[in-house]
Amino acid sequence: MPGDIRMRALVWHGKSDIRCDNVPDPKIEHPRDAIIKVNACAICGSDLHLLNGIIPSMESGDIVGHECMGEVVEVGSENTKLKVGDRVVVPFTISCGNCFFCLKGAFSGCERSNPNKEMAEKVWGHSPSGLFGYSHMLGGYSGSQAEYVRVPYADVGPIKVPEGLSDEQVLFLSDIFPTGYMAADFCDLKGGETVAIWGCGPVGQMAIRSAFLLGAERVIAIDTVPERLAMARAAGAETLDFHEVDVYEEIQNRTKGRGADACIDAVGTEADATASFDSIIDRIKTATFMGTDRPHVLRQAIHCCRNFGVVSVVGVYGGMLDKIPFGSAINRGLTFRMAQTPVQKYLPLLMKRIEKGEIDPSFVITHRATLEEGPELYKTFRDKKDGCIKVVMKP
Ligand SMILES: NC(=O)c1ccc[n+]([C@@H]2O[C@H](COP(=O)([O-])OP(=O)(O)OC[C@H]3O[C@@H](n4cnc5c(N)ncnc54)[C@H](O)[C@@H]3O)[C@@H](O)[C@H]2O)c1
Ligand SMILES: [Zn+2]
Ligand SMILES: [Zn+2]
Repeated sequence: MPGDIRMRALVWHGKSDIRCDNVPDPKIEHPRDAIIKVNACAICGSDLHLLNGIIPSMESGDIVGHECMGEVVEVGSENTKLKVGDRVVVPFTISCGNCFFCLKGAFSGCERSNPNKEMAEKVWGHSPSGLFGYSHMLGGYSGSQAEYVRVPYADVGPIKVPEGLSDEQVLFLSDIFPTGYMAADFCDLKGGETVAIWGCGPVGQMAIRSAFLLGAERVIAIDTVPERLAMARAAGAETLDFHEVDVYEEIQNRTKGRGADACIDAVGTEADATASFDSIIDRIKTATFMGTDRPHVLRQAIHCCRNFGVVSVVGVYGGMLDKIPFGSAINRGLTFRMAQTPVQKYLPLLMKRIEKGEIDPSFVITHRATLEEGPELYKTFRDKKDGCIKVVMKP
């Protein structure tokens, strides 16, 4: 039973320093909580921002991780939804379920789940929801790259897994599948569109398949890592290597000079620093604390989007973005959509799509490991070594 033993977990100690430590087991702290024994957890591209030390308000000793599924081993007295033994997927967003935002389905905007909301308000004006394992500014919650995790508001977030679906088939419902799906959903596809997607990491891969599910005729996927481009092609996308071609020129050529109907940024703030002149400048500015982000991909996505098209941003940014071509956007009527994913909104629908066999998100897994191997695999994933696209750990 949790509470007695000391569990293993991946713990942040500083930039490039994540270790597998023994830590105290989580306990029920609130009657709506549940404790989950983690069957499978994953490393997300967002975790790389922690590894690279660019997310403020991390403290040495913080347990990381926000994608997990597992088995309920303990429930709080007020939690009537879950019982011991249930197999569940846990969204990375922590949401109360009955505030102004949760009632609208904007779960990642929950105004009750971040106990440190004043920290976020100072930087962003208003606070989003709390997240698992993602800094004190976003709640200071322990993450799920661990043997056990405490799930707050566990009568809202976790969803039971139907029989017949494997752990790996449902694990990515916690984050990257809803995120990629939302990115495509934002594009307002009616059928027949061309969608350009920057980034063929795990989120980009989910966005590519979701764009096709939602009716896109063509997907142009952009990256430079060969096995990631190959995985994109396997889904039916056309690909572009940003180190080999001029992305803008090539998208112009492939869309008869009109631009893509929708552009998805699935890269975010850590865009390849060698991709272009502006990305080199971004790199210098962030390295010298003259800037907070490296928004090269967002700039390019705006330029490549057709008049009155949609720019859908799911790659994460942190602060004040420089040199965004807003003139291009306003004069050409672009629509911007973006969010940390309100996972709970998409989860039931996407569980059904998996059950019906429309998609099996486990296609993206390249590495299976133990928690002890986690720190090494963080680096393998960051450096895109050994063909690594997605790491799943079984504690
Ligand atoms: N909005 C959300 O709720 C949410 C959820 C999960 C992840 N994310 C974010 O999504 C982003 C991607 O996550 P991931 O797990 O796929 O990570 P990842 O780091 O594995 O993927 C990023 C990909 O972008 C590629 N890339 C870098 N520079 C590029 C450029 N100039 N043009 C095209 N491609 C470029 C990289 O080669 C890499 O394959 C991250 O910023 C992550 O924080 C957001
Ligand atoms: Zn994530
Ligand atoms: Zn709420």
